[in-house]
Amino acid sequence: MTQQQLLDPQQAAAAVAPIWAELLDIPENEISEKTDFFGAGGHSLTAMLVVTQIEKKMGKRVPLFALVENPTLAAFSGFVANLDEDEPVVEARAPDGSATQSERLLGYNSPERRQMRNTWFEQFYSQAMQSEAHAEFCRQVYGDNFGQHGMADLDQLDQFIDKLSIGQGDTVLDMGCGYGLISDYIAKKTGAKVVGVDLSASAIKFANTLAEENGRLEFHEMDIANLDFPPDTFSHIISIDTVYYAPSLYNLLLKFKEIGKPGLGLGIIRTFPKRTFTRETWSPDLTELASLLREVFNGYDAYDFSVEENEHWRKKTEVLKSLEQSFADEGNHALWDFRYREAEYEAGIEQFRYMFVSKATP
Ligand SMILES: C[S@@+](CC[C@H](N)C(=O)[O-])C[C@H]1O[C@@H](n2cnc3c(N)ncnc32)[C@H](O)[C@@H]1O
Repeated sequence: MTQQQLLDPQQAAAAVAPIWAELLDIPENEISEKTDFFGAGGHSLTAMLVVTQIEKKMGKRVPLFALVENPTLAAFSGFVANLDEDEPVVEARAPDGSATQSERLLGYNSPERRQMRNTWFEQFYSQAMQSEAHAEFCRQVYGDNFGQHGMADLDQLDQFIDKLSIGQGDTVLDMGCGYGLISDYIAKKTGAKVVGVDLSASAIKFANTLAEENGRLEFHEMDIANLDFPPDTFSHIISIDTVYYAPSLYNLLLKFKEIGKPGLGLGIIRTFPKRTFTRETWSPDLTELASLLREVFNGYDAYDFSVEENEHWRKKTEVLKSLEQSFADEGNHALWDFRYREAEYEAGIEQFRYMFVSKATP
């Protein structure tokens, strides 16, 4: 097949579908335009094989991020069809040169990476709330100590609550709640009931002590890939820096719709490492989250926290440097090191951060 023949997205889809079918090990007739590569079982290795196979069978050099950002067959084939190989987009590598941002993000859900991350989080949550140095770090970076591991400070939380119009009588799911102190803040500020879920046993153990004090809180140790709630349970679902860990964003959004009440309010805050986009062309509308929200929730409002995000990582490294001795004096240098390595790495990458707010059509 020549390049010219592939400029038609339909033809591109007909050529891509058998490649997906083979690599995903599913019959080709089960693949439609709406099939989501990661929802159908794709992961980092199969994604890389897709790229290799497309070059071999179709003569097109597709960058890996194209699949991450266009996970449905229709979107990906459209990208392949319109690929301008005279102007290839070369994705920047991480500051340590180890991987591109797409490889890194895709790697989030490899079994080894998952295992390692869960162990890190478990260690973090078994230590952080017992450290006065960490409490001081959180106060200086976020404005209060909620044992935060995400990037949302108090100002972002307040804007989130406001844009979602959470109030008394609402039932909110806080996905990836950590210690539950953010859930507690939301419950106290709005009068809503807040249900938090997290994979970390230590985090949920701490959170349950909050639930003993506040009847409007409830916590569960639960994997976001397996949210176990009856249909029509929540008026709102929020996720602060946790959607990265869903094996399939598409399946997660469908699950939200199922366990949400009619008219569900959905709020997602997340960061996007720079991939395809340059500062001039960056738009939240070009992200995979945006395209999936358009499909599953009929749209969204997006609020830009990118300036705050880059400042956040800079501030984290600065505050941590000033507190290193305090962590060491407590015997918590390993905790300092965990936070510092992450902050130093992230501060070296230009980040885009957005809050997406959607409403399901009843
Ligand atoms: C970056 S932290 C954000 C925590 C909190 N939302 C905050 O803003 O501080 C990500 C959280 O997701 C949790 N997590 C990671 N993978 C998960 C999974 N598969 N299911 C549920 N929670 C998960 C971690 O334990 C951690 O608490």
